[in-house]
Amino acid sequence: MSNITGKIIGLGSFFPANVVTNDDLAKIVETNDAWIQERTGIKQRHIADGVNEKSSTMAVKAAKAAVEDAGIDPKDIDLIVCASTSPDLMFPTLATTVQEAIGATEDCGCFDVNSACPGWLAAFNTVQGFIESGNSKLALVIGAETLSNVTDWTDRGSCILFGDGAGAAVLKAEEGKRNELIMRSSGARGECLHLETSKQPKRYDEEGFEKKTVMYMAGRDVFRFAVTEVPKLITDLSVKYNFDLADVDYFILHQANARIIESTAKKLEINLEKFPMTIEKTGNTSSASIPALLTEMKKDGRLKKGMKLVFASFGGGLTWNANYIEY
Ligand code: ACO
Repeated sequence: MSNITGKIIGLGSFFPANVVTNDDLAKIVETNDAWIQERTGIKQRHIADGVNEKSSTMAVKAAKAAVEDAGIDPKDIDLIVCASTSPDLMFPTLATTVQEAIGATEDCGCFDVNSACPGWLAAFNTVQGFIESGNSKLALVIGAETLSNVTDWTDRGSCILFGDGAGAAVLKAEEGKRNELIMRSSGARGECLHLETSKQPKRYDEEGFEKKTVMYMAGRDVFRFAVTEVPKLITDLSVKYNFDLADVDYFILHQANARIIESTAKKLEINLEKFPMTIEKTGNTSSASIPALLTEMKKDGRLKKGMKLVFASFGGGLTWNANYIEY
């Protein structure tokens, strides 16, 4: 087996200009800043205007930033995969929209994936499969979400969590440690987090149908699932690939709730400083959260070549994935 893998050589993110604070939310549902901060760690989130800022345009902006950061010619990109659970375009795909906007050629394969919050990791693993099998040399992996379109703004138990944004990474085929991963799923437990598409006109008259076209989340069940499965997944990853969790530089977790991250760090007996967070400023941006966090860490100098990173995400499906990579 060759030692070629996809190295992250560029990172970029984009967040809408409109910042919605917890106090702003307290004007539309019965909640308050202290409760939201204590239970989630979130202070604010960005909400897209839905016209100039939507999943496709944000994907383009994050992708352009990642391409610029990588210092590459977009004409050399041979694969673009975009993860989204809230695309404004089902097709053309977000990936082809990005292809055109950044000036990639027709020799570039493009498709979207949906795996809810772990969507970017699913896309990352897909792209790594292409690169490690020699079928791609330079690829873009994007996560872009406009969750505000599918949030139930009357449900204080969920609307306080989510935000909009996009993140992107450029992966280049280079010598290095291969992508190591575990992917798990449970359709049987999918009910606690679900969203139906509104484009089902034959069901418009069905009682309660409208409510199903915004996100339903049984918060406590999802919380319990995450704090149980994520630490177990990370431990299993270290056993499967025979590495010591103490040697990992950073644990890059999906930014869903600061308490889930804190609980994971505690269960793994790893210092919380190794679990960077952006959730305070962005809320849960689903598939955008991991690439956006990596972008911030690169900009502020925390991320350095050769660092050992664990990625872990969880969400609708239910699905939960983790990776061990060398940056
Ligand atoms: N403001 C004030 N009070 C509230 C609010 C609010 N926004 N929301 C709920 N409460 C109340 C409840 O009504 C309840 O009151 P009661 O005790 O009188 O019944 C009390 O606060 C506690 O409610 P819980 O639901 O038990 O609160 P919890 O501590 O579990 O926090 C939360 C709720 C933040 C949603 C948490 O369960 C959570 O983060 N769950 C995980 C969500 C998640 O990670 N989702 C990611 C999935 S992403 C994807 O795939 C799309």
